[in-house]
Order: sequence, then C-alpha cells, then structure tokens
Amino acid sequence: MSEVTFTKPGTLTPILSHGWDHDRSWTLDSYRARGGYRGLEKALTLEPTQITDMVKASGLRGRGGAGFPTGLKWSFLPPDDGKPRYLVVNADESEPGTCKDIPLLMANPHALIEGMAITARAIRCEHAFIYLRGEVAHVYRRLLAAVREAEEAGLIGQGLGPNGDFNLRITAHAGAGAYICGEETALLDSLEGRRGHPRLKPPFPAVAGLYARPTVVNNVESISQVPGIFANPEGWFAAMGTEKSTGHGFFSVSGHVNNPGQFEAPFGITMRELIEMAGGIRDGHQLKFWTPGGSSTPIFTEAELDVPLDYESVGAAGSMLATRALQVFDETTSVVRVITRWTEFYQHESCGKCTPCREGTYWMKQIMLRLEAGRGKPGDIDLLDEIAGNIAGKSFCALGDAAATPVRSGIAKFREEFEAGLTTPARELFPYEASAVF
Ligand code: NAI
Ligand code: SF4
Repeated sequence: MSEVTFTKPGTLTPILSHGWDHDRSWTLDSYRARGGYRGLEKALTLEPTQITDMVKASGLRGRGGAGFPTGLKWSFLPPDDGKPRYLVVNADESEPGTCKDIPLLMANPHALIEGMAITARAIRCEHAFIYLRGEVAHVYRRLLAAVREAEEAGLIGQGLGPNGDFNLRITAHAGAGAYICGEETALLDSLEGRRGHPRLKPPFPAVAGLYARPTVVNNVESISQVPGIFANPEGWFAAMGTEKSTGHGFFSVSGHVNNPGQFEAPFGITMRELIEMAGGIRDGHQLKFWTPGGSSTPIFTEAELDVPLDYESVGAAGSMLATRALQVFDETTSVVRVITRWTEFYQHESCGKCTPCREGTYWMKQIMLRLEAGRGKPGDIDLLDEIAGNIAGKSFCALGDAAATPVRSGIAKFREEFEAGLTTPARELFPYEASAVF
C-alpha cells in the first residue's frame, strides 16, 4: 500500500486516525493516553438496550459497504434465551481499491477492541470473533498482541464491570485469503471450519448465524466508531455528516494523485475536495475516471466531482458509496485494461456455487482479454453487455453484481474504447509506462 497521509485537524475529522503518528500508537498505553476505553467505562454503566438505543440515535451505518443501520441490526437479535450469541467482526477487507481497515487495525487496534466490548455488552454476547483476511500476517500478530494487552489489563475477561457481570472473550481468526469469505455468511461458514460458501438469506445472521445462533456481523470501521459515541456528549456523532449519512469515515484516495492516502472526513465531503487534499491529480495530467466505492461501483468522471459523498447523493448520481475506495485514474489509463483486471479478479474469486456468476465471469473475462489485446470479434461489446446483464441481479450473492457492474458501467461511459479493442491493443493506445502510478 502507498504511504498513508495523516489527517490534519481543521481540514478533516481525525477521530479514528487521531494519534496514528504517535510513537507506538497501537499500544494500550498510547490509546489510553488519547482517551481510549472511556466509552467502555460509560457503556458498562448502561443497560444493553440503552446502548443499542444510543447507537441507533447516532445514525451510525455499516462501514463495510452496504450502509445498513448498525443499531437497527443489533436490535434484530431475538430475546436472550441464555444460550450463546455472537459478535463477528468482518476484517476480510478485499474489495479492489479498499484499504481502510488494515491501516486502522495496524495503527489503532484498541479502538476495535473497545468497540467490540461495548457491542458485546449491547447484544449480551460473551464470545466475539475477528475474522481477518489471511494474507496479512503482520496485522494478525498486532491484533493478537492487542487482545492480550486488553485481557492483561482487565478490560476484557470474566466478571468485569461495576456489577461484575461483564464477560467477554475475543478470538482473532485469520482466514485463508478468499474474497468470498468477506460475504458475511461465507465468512461464518469459513469460521466454522468449512469451505466459505454464501448461505441463503433469510435467515439473516441476526437470527441464525455462527453455529446457527444469533450473530451480529459488523465491519471493523463500524465497530471502531462505537466508542466515540459513548465517550463524547450526546449528539456528537449525529452532528457530523449529512442527515441520513451521519458521522465520519475513511475516504481512501489511491491512484493518480500526488499524495494518495486515508482521509478521515465527515460524510458529504466531495471528491473535488479530497483530490485537492491529496495534492491534486499527478502533475501534468488530467482526471479521466474514478470509483466512489471500489471496483464494484459504477465509475464516475469529472461530471460527478461535486457530488456529496454520502449514501443518498452517490446513489442518486447513479453509483454506490460502498467502501469509499476512491481510485483515481488519469488520461493515460485504458478503461478496457482496468476493467479486464477487475474482471479477472472476480472470475478468480467466484466461489462457483451459482451458474450466472461461475460461467458469466469466465465468459466476460475471455471477451475482455480479447478486447484488451485488440482482437475483439464483431458483436463482442453487445455480447459482453448482455452477459453482464444476465449476471446482475440473477446471482446468488453480491459478488455476481460486483463483477457485472464495472463492465456495464465501462461500456456505458467509454464505449469508444471498447470499440477500439476490436482492432487495436490497449498497450498501443495506452502504453503501460505512461500509466504507471509509482
Ligand atoms: P446487504 O445489504 O445484503 O446486507 C447488509 C447487512 O444488513 C448484512 O449484515 C445483513 O445481514 C443485514 N440485513 C439486511 N437486511 C436484513 C434484515 N431484513 N434482517 C436482518 N439483517 C439484515 O449487503 P451485503 O451483501 O452484506 O454487503 C454488500 C456490500 O458489501 C456491498 O455494498 C459492497 O460494497 C460491500 N463489499 C465490501 C467489501 C470489502 O472489502 N469491505 C468486499 C465486497 C463487498
Ligand atoms: Fe458464488 Fe458468485 Fe454465486 Fe456468489 S454470485 S454464490 S460468489 S458463484
């Protein structure tokens, strides 16, 4: 990953990224010196339903991509029957362009652990899991160390809290590196020790999740934002952002800008502002297109630079905010080449459970590779669009939609480049050397 740009007070909202540049920011001492675990202290004086109500009132929405209201999700759990119920943190961040949870876990893992403790209290869970993507062994080591620190300091464990009735064990689990295991039900299968395949929904995990017990699955950033809601005065979180997309979040700007990095800002900031903060498009070049939320969201161009980056506005402009993975591409980039790489990724990661995605991603990849090589056949572009149309909305899980979206959006916005692929290789139209980012 590129070097992280640290947020600057005054221009952005450095809340989760506050103190990332402190010496050993990931340690418990550093987190506590920054006010860490004050939120948990307050939450342990509240009833579980009061905690959930406060999160609902904050308007916090899931930061993993779907934007589902967090407090509402917690309230879907059936009444406590005295049997186990679980919290599972989805740390399987894998969407191309998405790179916010890993730096957050590396720099500030105690924000997640504190958020997990508050969430566990709210949903009456005594065993919580973190499911981490398998490739990042250094993050796994850091998480294990942070969990151990929290245990040794008596922040998690048995018989804690003012009434001695707070019990929590946290298990960090590293997956084996499959994108599909970020889909929440495939993740649960994998955590149970089976091959990760999406399950039919409903029942949603809130009703039948891990080991068929009620389970809350939330993203790393969502849970890490929970402590701030309790450590700050009422209304603090909801006062940031927009009416329906409250609060702050990471906007990960990558690609052809001078200073790519994480920018923590209130929802509603625009891409124009973020590109300015990232030092502008790399010198001597112009913006061609960008993604608002990773490779699975319809692409935007200069026309959308002033769209407020909140769920509603990005949706109304024809795309999705999703993971706020803002990938910037300048005029040296071949749209066909970029979408070919994404299509190869989705084809490789398709779990094969359903036919539209298993077969369709393979066909799309073959056609995209032809177009990239300048050897497209007459009718290829319409065929590609038709195949993508037969995947979108007809697949078993969101991966199928994700694979179809960039193809359809690329054809809609840059059809002439796909047509050029019938006769001319992308490497001639857009030489690799010119588009190199680093
Ligand atoms: P979804 O909209 O189906 O569900 C969102 C959440 O709300 C889930 O936890 C689901 O269980 C819960 N939910 C929805 N309706 C419910 C109901 N009636 N009762 C109880 N719970 C309910 O979205 P999904 O498929 O979980 O996630 C798709 C998103 O994931 C995409 O928008 C994409 O941006 C994002 N994504 C993120 C990746 C990453 O690396 N962070 C990778 C791939 C996709
Ligand atoms: Fe598997 Fe793709 Fe079907 Fe999802 S859409 S179940 S990843 S084959």
